[in-house]
Amino acid sequence: MGTRENEIYDIVGIGFGPSNLSLAIALEEHESNSSEQPITAAFFERQAAFGWHRNMLLPQATMQISFLKDLATFRNPLSRYSFVSYLHDSNRLVQFVNNQDFFPTRQEFHQYLEWAEAGFRDRVSYNSEVTEVRLAAESAADEQILEVLVRDTVAGTTRVVKARNITVSTGLVPRMPDGMERDERVWHSSEFLAKYGQMKPEELKSVAVVGAGQSAAEITKYLHDMLPQAQVSAILPSYGYSVADDTPFANQVFDPTAVDHYYFGTEKTRDAFWRYHKNTNYSVVDDDVIRELFRRSYEEEVAGAQRLRFLNLTRVKEVKRSGNDTRVVLHSLLDGETEQEMDVDALVFATGYATMDATSLLGELDGFCLRDEEGRHRVERDYRVVTTGGLSCGIYLQGGTEHTHGLTSSLLSNIAVRSGEIADSIVERRGVGEKV
Ligand code: FDA
Ligand code: NAP
Repeated sequence: MGTRENEIYDIVGIGFGPSNLSLAIALEEHESNSSEQPITAAFFERQAAFGWHRNMLLPQATMQISFLKDLATFRNPLSRYSFVSYLHDSNRLVQFVNNQDFFPTRQEFHQYLEWAEAGFRDRVSYNSEVTEVRLAAESAADEQILEVLVRDTVAGTTRVVKARNITVSTGLVPRMPDGMERDERVWHSSEFLAKYGQMKPEELKSVAVVGAGQSAAEITKYLHDMLPQAQVSAILPSYGYSVADDTPFANQVFDPTAVDHYYFGTEKTRDAFWRYHKNTNYSVVDDDVIRELFRRSYEEEVAGAQRLRFLNLTRVKEVKRSGNDTRVVLHSLLDGETEQEMDVDALVFATGYATMDATSLLGELDGFCLRDEEGRHRVERDYRVVTTGGLSCGIYLQGGTEHTHGLTSSLLSNIAVRSGEIADSIVERRGVGEKV
């Protein structure tokens, strides 16, 4: 997409994953979006094409939310961008229903996201990384303008795009344990399929996966499937995998109303959410994957040929690399003393992600943003960062709001409703005022 040089967009979206795709849909469907006064939007994505955690699109990996928690349905059940609409368009609706499963594969959901994204190609630029946002020098006191610096990742050139508001939606940040470096043999789960694809499977005789979350369990299972001759070691910080609680009462923490309870609650309310319900999402694994891994391990034990090993209460102390050789130094928490060394051909750190933080993108603009006593951005209910009176432009966050809006901040569960709330806010603040 080519942005118009002198256009001042109502909103510029940074990143084009599911969150900003959902926002693009909400803006398009907003009643105030008329041809006389359209809500103008442009989105920038650093990847070459749309992709949702592509390196974890493992066969049979399923969604962790119902298909009805798609890009639009909870905001607008009549949306033409719903998952049901996609199924209908793909001539698969009847068979999907016959399949009687609320949780499609991630591969099918990815196809749905690509199908929806195809409707917005005129508003999104790929190979376009936003490097900075700043206040335009010529901003008038009554109408401030933001300048978004967009680097073309192919040509290396940078252009400036103007906006009244931005929405930062750059996603989770892969997290490696302190002191561990990634390279061609040591990977983070977020780069798994790309790195695995560069290896010759027959050269992978011993592999290890660090972590006890969903990514770790799925990768362990995948490597066990794909490398029938290899030793596959799972290095677990815990005693064993713990189950992700997706039972109905607990699942209510992902409801749109839970955002209000969290946002308007006290510190004690927010603490209760985390204390009681962190196990709906973090460091936990779906029941069927846990049982499948255990079953495989037991069958190997019965057959007397164990190649799937679980090293529990174990952490990686050091990784020694030399050429193709990788030696992992392990520390056992069982006695707090035992150390052992293991040689592997590839090591995967499925050690999770840090939350999104807009600080570095905002540069000097961050000086206008207010923070709480723990140094985190203060955020309005409509996901707009609280700023000093010196800034009238809106900085909206899709992600990085777990401290204010709760567990759904980095998930898909609430994106349809959240996008609608952001679209409403943008429209109301420009003075048009009608809701979807
Ligand atoms: P997302 O990370 O998807 O997109 C951000 C985009 O911004 C990326 O495309 C990135 O390239 C781009 N970007 C970053 N910086 C940029 C810059 N400076 N300039 C331009 N572009 C930039 N949740 C859930 O509810 N149900 C589920 O089933 C799953 N499944 C799942 C699987 C796996 C493997 C992971 C790692 C995570 C999940 N999640 C999940 C959680 C996940 O955060 C969520 O599904 C979405 O990815 C959130 O969408 P976003 O658009 O916010 O971020
Ligand atoms: P995660 O849930 O944060 O799990 C990270 C794991 O790594 C935890 O077991 C953690 O242990 C461990 N860990 C962290 N630092 C460590 C260290 N230094 N040494 C040893 N272990 C360490 O991350 P994730 O599994 O990548 O999941 C992230 C998100 O993606 C979740 O929302 C998840 O549901 C989602 N996801 C979804 C799918 C799917 O839809 N099918 C697939 C994969 C992931 P501690 O508990 O001790 O920190």
